[in-house]
Amino acid sequence: MIVQEELPMVAIPSMNDTHLEESLLINKLETSASSNDIESTLATLKELLAHTAMHFSTEESMMQEAKFLEYNSHKAEHDRHLSELEHIIKYFEGNKDTNAIMAYIKGNLKAWMLDHVKTMDTVMAEHCHTVNS
Ligand SMILES: [Fe+2]
Repeated sequence: MIVQEELPMVAIPSMNDTHLEESLLINKLETSASSNDIESTLATLKELLAHTAMHFSTEESMMQEAKFLEYNSHKAEHDRHLSELEHIIKYFEGNKDTNAIMAYIKGNLKAWMLDHVKTMDTVMAEHCHTVNS
């Protein structure tokens, strides 16, 4: 589970709100998968994908508007993560293995999310915040 205190805060409040929503979705996914609820796990995976796609495209527009120089590497990381999530959903639709989803959350998703916010998002928020103020 991700607790709110673990989430690094960035310079743009709306991004912090989005990151909090994302962490709550990841927690919901963990609850569904750990109780072996296949239907809810799949629905939450799809909800997380839709939320993440929207979240990333908002960040990408902000970076473009602020002419952020590291746009390409940040966007590439977003694209990589989205295609990983799509791949995980396809895999789960095939084998309905909630243990694999638990392993993904604990071995990858949670750490990735916190690290991405702490590194790439922190830098881009600082830049966009400075340009816009
Ligand atoms: Fe990002």
